Amino acid sequence: MEILQTAAGLQARTEGWRQNGQRIGLVPTMGALHEGHLQLVRAAARENDVVVVSIFVNPTQFNNPEDFRLYPRLPEADATLLQDTGCTVLFAPSVEEMYPQPTVMRFDFGALEQVMEGAHRPGHFNGVATVVSKLFHLSRPHRAYFGQKDLQQVAVIRQMVADLSFDLEPVTFPTVREADGLAMSSRNRRLSPQARAVAPRLYQALELATRLLQQHATVAEVQQQVTAFLQQHPEIELEYFDISNARTLQPLEDGAAPAGQVALCLAAWLDGVRLIDNVVVNLA
Ligand code: PAF
Repeated sequence: MEILQTAAGLQARTEGWRQNGQRIGLVPTMGALHEGHLQLVRAAARENDVVVVSIFVNPTQFNNPEDFRLYPRLPEADATLLQDTGCTVLFAPSVEEMYPQPTVMRFDFGALEQVMEGAHRPGHFNGVATVVSKLFHLSRPHRAYFGQKDLQQVAVIRQMVADLSFDLEPVTFPTVREADGLAMSSRNRRLSPQARAVAPRLYQALELATRLLQQHATVAEVQQQVTAFLQQHPEIELEYFDISNARTLQPLEDGAAPAGQVALCLAAWLDGVRLIDNVVVNLA
């Protein structure tokens, strides 16, 4: 595995691969790698000739400077983890390399970013779209791999790929969970033992919501029961729990008993750490 730190170095490498007709897979990450990331890299290695994994804690997608400062950074451990995954190039640029000048252009995803993460983290998806489009231009992938844990991010990136005619296929992989159901996340490392002990309640809340919807409960009834379930744990501060159309991510009406593909998404604070999770349910 080669480690590259400059945009020019990565462009030269991908240009050579393209000329040789090699298929390029890209796995964009912010590091502090876990099994969820590694599954994306292994899939990229199976489905492409060469794989670029980027590790870059992108400042422009953090609306909270403290969250950016505390985001786990483990460059040596990450490089070791990637050794046997099929990663060809680890791209690990500095902030100055990715942003030689402040960006002026802004992305606007309309209704798609006026809910959930977009509503609670102003500017977040502008930062995500900016860095992901830079990574697409530098690595020129045929396929790019993302985890379903960031469901709204996946929708935003798919929209961007379609709107800007990026010649690549975005690939989404299911959320990878710990044995107790907690969605794997780089932020889990920051959980205190007490917060880690109650964190699986988030997925249990989504499972409860799924069962209720399968029994034809209304949106308002599910909202009320999920909120009550999480309120039993004072360590959990629910930021939002949305029941939405899985395609548009727009919230469903309170009185409706939903049918079709429904996305259940939540964000919550546990002891100063913000976690998100979601499930997509197929309802008859
Ligand atoms: O999902 C992430 O880790 C980040 O949002 C991404 C896609 C690497 C962009 O910085």
